[in-house]
Amino acid sequence: MPTEIIGPAWKFCNYRSNSESVDGACGRVYTLDTSRPEANPRLANHYSPRKGAILNIQVTVNGKAQEREVDPRRLLVHFLRDDLGLTGTKIGCDTSQCGACVVKMDGKTVKSCTCLAVQANGSDVTTIEGIAPEGGLDPVQEAFWDNHGLQCGFCTAGMIITVDELLRKNPNPSEDEVREGLKGNICRCTGYQNIVKATLAAAEAKRS
Ligand code: FES
Ligand code: FES
Repeated sequence: MPTEIIGPAWKFCNYRSNSESVDGACGRVYTLDTSRPEANPRLANHYSPRKGAILNIQVTVNGKAQEREVDPRRLLVHFLRDDLGLTGTKIGCDTSQCGACVVKMDGKTVKSCTCLAVQANGSDVTTIEGIAPEGGLDPVQEAFWDNHGLQCGFCTAGMIITVDELLRKNPNPSEDEVREGLKGNICRCTGYQNIVKATLAAAEAKRS
């Protein structure tokens, strides 16, 4: 089977760095020629980290201490998804525009596609897997469930983490304030009405 060389990383949606193939946003399957990592230096980093440039990081993720060796160029989102297996955090645009990758770092939301894993060294990171009490749902998750605040669910982890922070800062937001607070999160299913409704319901549930 002929091998195609993959194109720039920004063309791809949610690629799987640990596999030999990469799902393209256009639906085509591209095969990474691992014998020629220079074909795409960014993705090649997953396969051949520079020798001698590995750093040790210690991060508390969802309350659990983690220690790993990482390439200095490794993104936080890849560290979470590929090294720790926390795949609830999604990669949408990979360019800091969609908010699918939002996690909390030391209590503040960050786009983990735009943050290096080494920048999280010594931090406390919370992903969607760590937001709920064990065996239950957080009030924001509950409200998204009750108000049909998700369709395909791809944006949902980032939305919920963002809403969580929004409601901590403003426990009684107006609809306009919710829309303003969520402007960094894009829902490709365009289900904004119910996302806003769910956020207002979560605010009410948290206040009562
Ligand atoms: S993947 Fe879109 S903002 Fe990070
Ligand atoms: S529910 Fe599909 S992208 Fe938001």
